[in-house]
Amino acid sequence: MSLLELKGVRIAYGQAVAVQDLSLHLDKGEFVSLIGHNGVGKSSTVKAIAGLVKPASGTISFEGEEIQGKDPGAILRKGIAVVPEGRRIFTRLTVKENLTVGATVRKDRSGTETSYEEMIERFPVLGKYAQRMAGLLSGGEQQQLAIARALMSTPQLLLLDEPSLGLAPQIVDQVFDLLGQLRDQGTTIFLIEQNAAQAIRASDRYYVMRTGGIIQVEAQGGENADISQIEADYLHFGKV
Ligand SMILES: Nc1ncnc2c1ncn2[C@@H]1O[C@H](COP(=O)(O)OP(=O)(O)OP(=O)(O)O)[C@@H](O)[C@H]1O
Ligand SMILES: [Mg+2]
Repeated sequence: MSLLELKGVRIAYGQAVAVQDLSLHLDKGEFVSLIGHNGVGKSSTVKAIAGLVKPASGTISFEGEEIQGKDPGAILRKGIAVVPEGRRIFTRLTVKENLTVGATVRKDRSGTETSYEEMIERFPVLGKYAQRMAGLLSGGEQQQLAIARALMSTPQLLLLDEPSLGLAPQIVDQVFDLLGQLRDQGTTIFLIEQNAAQAIRASDRYYVMRTGGIIQVEAQGGENADISQIEADYLHFGKV
């Protein structure tokens, strides 16, 4: 049984159909990327999984249970945490407060404290600026905060919507390294990216999405993945 499975998912905003008929799956412990250009329906897919939009039809199953249309809090409690597009940290809260918010689904106070200690060990800059307003952090620091906030709920599945957008290449490398480490520690990773080459190399498996949320390619990722076809497609749009 897959950890996450989408079958025939359709997402529409009024008359506008963002995703026509999407099926994909992630097995437990996998690192899977979903690659696609602007407007193909990546964020709509993320929002549907996270419970922020209700699919018009189709099913989204997590651990064999249908979750489509459930509210975001319930989905988070089941073990799916999201690093949303544009990070969406709470700019007027401190770094520590942002992290604490990420743990509100946890019932145990001591667990929250332990997770906090783990996060500032993993992301030292967050410990250094714990009492600083999050809005004052740099883009790369805010991205680390967004990932750490999601990890505070100790999710089974971490869903990231374009975490590398707007970051310096060196910071992007750090984010990818971190995702690899998390996968090695047992977290299932679903990475949405336009940064195709790097995402594919970091992944066990990847999908390429076309307009309307149509899956064009499903293939194995990894350091030696053949990305020539993907590069050819992307070069057509002027980016790799
Ligand atoms: N709330 C909304 N109301 C109407 N249309 C929307 C809404 N959100 C997204 N869309 C449309 O749905 C389509 C898919 O958008 P989506 O944000 O899912 O794409 P994306 O692949 O994440 O794009 P990007 O790479 O630019 O983030 C687009 O045509 C977009 O204009
Ligand atoms: Mg998007």
